[in-house]
Amino acid sequence: MTFRDTAAGTLTTADAGSTVQLAGWASRIRNQGGVMFIDLRDASGVVQIVIDPGVHSEAVDIRREFCLSITGEVAVRPEGSENPDLPTGDIEVTVADLTVLSSARALPFQLDERTEVDELVRLQYRYLDLRRPRVAANLRARSTAIAAMRRVLNQAGFLDVETPTLIKSTPEGARDVLVPSRLQKGDFYALPQSPQLFKQLLMVGGIERYYQIARCYRDEDFRSDRQIEFSQLDIEGSFWGRDDVLATLESVMVEVVRDVRKIELETPFRRLTYQESMDRYGTDKPDLRFEMPIADLTGLFASTEFKAFAGAVEAGGVIRGLNIGGQEMSRSALDGLVDDAKDAGAGGLVWMVVEDEGGLRSPVAKFLSEAELAGVRSALEGAAGDHLLIVADRTRVAADVLGRFRVRFGAPEGHDELNFVWITDFPVFEETAGGDLVAAHHPFSAPVDVDEMATSPATAIAQAYDLVLNGSELGSGSVRIHDPETQQKVFEILGISAEEAERRFGWFVEALGYGTPPHAGFAVGIARLVSILQHEPNIREVIPFPKTQTGVDPLTGSPSPVDDYQLAELGIDLRPEVRAARAEAAEGEPPPGA
Ligand code: AMO
Repeated sequence: MTFRDTAAGTLTTADAGSTVQLAGWASRIRNQGGVMFIDLRDASGVVQIVIDPGVHSEAVDIRREFCLSITGEVAVRPEGSENPDLPTGDIEVTVADLTVLSSARALPFQLDERTEVDELVRLQYRYLDLRRPRVAANLRARSTAIAAMRRVLNQAGFLDVETPTLIKSTPEGARDVLVPSRLQKGDFYALPQSPQLFKQLLMVGGIERYYQIARCYRDEDFRSDRQIEFSQLDIEGSFWGRDDVLATLESVMVEVVRDVRKIELETPFRRLTYQESMDRYGTDKPDLRFEMPIADLTGLFASTEFKAFAGAVEAGGVIRGLNIGGQEMSRSALDGLVDDAKDAGAGGLVWMVVEDEGGLRSPVAKFLSEAELAGVRSALEGAAGDHLLIVADRTRVAADVLGRFRVRFGAPEGHDELNFVWITDFPVFEETAGGDLVAAHHPFSAPVDVDEMATSPATAIAQAYDLVLNGSELGSGSVRIHDPETQQKVFEILGISAEEAERRFGWFVEALGYGTPPHAGFAVGIARLVSILQHEPNIREVIPFPKTQTGVDPLTGSPSPVDDYQLAELGIDLRPEVRAARAEAAEGEPPPGA
């Protein structure tokens, strides 16, 4: 049998009089005795079908989400019964033949968009959640975006190459997801945190232009923009420098945004160095849909008598200010900002309000000179009613705290603009709280100057860049180290001993020794990109089967215990304390199969 010849959502008054066969789900049912109206939904949309239960007696048993196939005639709806909310609202289909393809149990939740459903329940019944317009539209946008990426890169001569997912660990700064080997008991594969080293090997192998929609796995703390498994658009090119990468990524973004959002992006995207971004916006992921810059006031207070400011500068810190504009804030709300700043790590916060006569009202105004107050107002361009926030602290802290206030008070609500910006010239290394150096991006990014990196690693600049959209990091990349000596030098600075470097990366450093071309690349987080394009606050909304914040899949119940014989085959035993804890947790639960 055939199921259908027409997509329900495509019918218009131009089809009136023709006979069509449709298949889909009964999404709304109204039984008016002598006549039944059903909204029949398929992937293309919804159309109203009209059934005479006198002719089709089985129709009275149809419930929501029964799956149907019908044949019928398209008719213009009687005047007054059109539905302007529905693209097919001017017509309906009068059913001649009806087949119930399958019935549906009572639903755990209503599938209309108006009903708020707990996310855990949505994920447990994701296959029903997917029938709702929201997630379905997101998956369509995701598919459109990936198709655009492939189109641009295929046309530009890139090769779509798969890299393995059972690998030796690739360091991207997160914890590896490990897979035990049965044949080499006691040994483990790692799932890739990214295809980084394999794509570099493809360059050694002469592939020259590579891309892949790659699955990546990182066992790190969940956030609204992180999952344990996710996909990247991963690219790499030989005989490439930074500007080749940036131009290629821009052409990809233009096409993706054109197809998904139907708007034309302007290129080249704005570029800021890491330092400029940190100084002016307090973050390396600035939301530039609004300006609200942070200003440096350190010079202004060079000889201040105000102890809190003088002390911070003496300790090598800075004084920075932010004008958050006119705000309706009570005295206690303003004092609340001081607590927020302290929670974010600052020693304190000074607030000032510009008064109508141009003076500054502030709890600390009496400690500051007229010249200092006037200087603050002018540096922050304070107009009457404006609220000014000042932090005197270590550079990192002052930037971070004011950067947060900037987003809190400046971020536009429901602002549709897409503001892409490149952040370039990242440092090679970052200092951890314990004073150790770690790779700021990953240890394969090339420094601008190898000698400088060797002599002053803490301040050395890398040829590394991020793409930021509306305050979110979409992707990262770099020009790579392509000679073994520099690569070894980086491992050394990172405190990885020669033996450890040999054991973990010897195979890779050796490969660099066989005439490796200069190369560079980039990776974009696909869910992050699509979630922003779709106005979704959480990447789970654009992932077909995501995990919860605790890494659980409520639909299948993964992760789950395995049988003892499976562990034995792998040469693995659970630690006694883990076994005991599991036994305790299982107590009280009915035995399996009961
Ligand atoms: P990086 O680690 O910056 O770079 O990752 C690139 C992009 O991948 C996305 N991403 C994530 N998305 C969802 N969940 C996660 N847990 C997650 N982690 C990262 C982000 C991020 O910007 N190999 C390098 C790229 C390169 O140098 O070419 C890399 O993976 O959008």
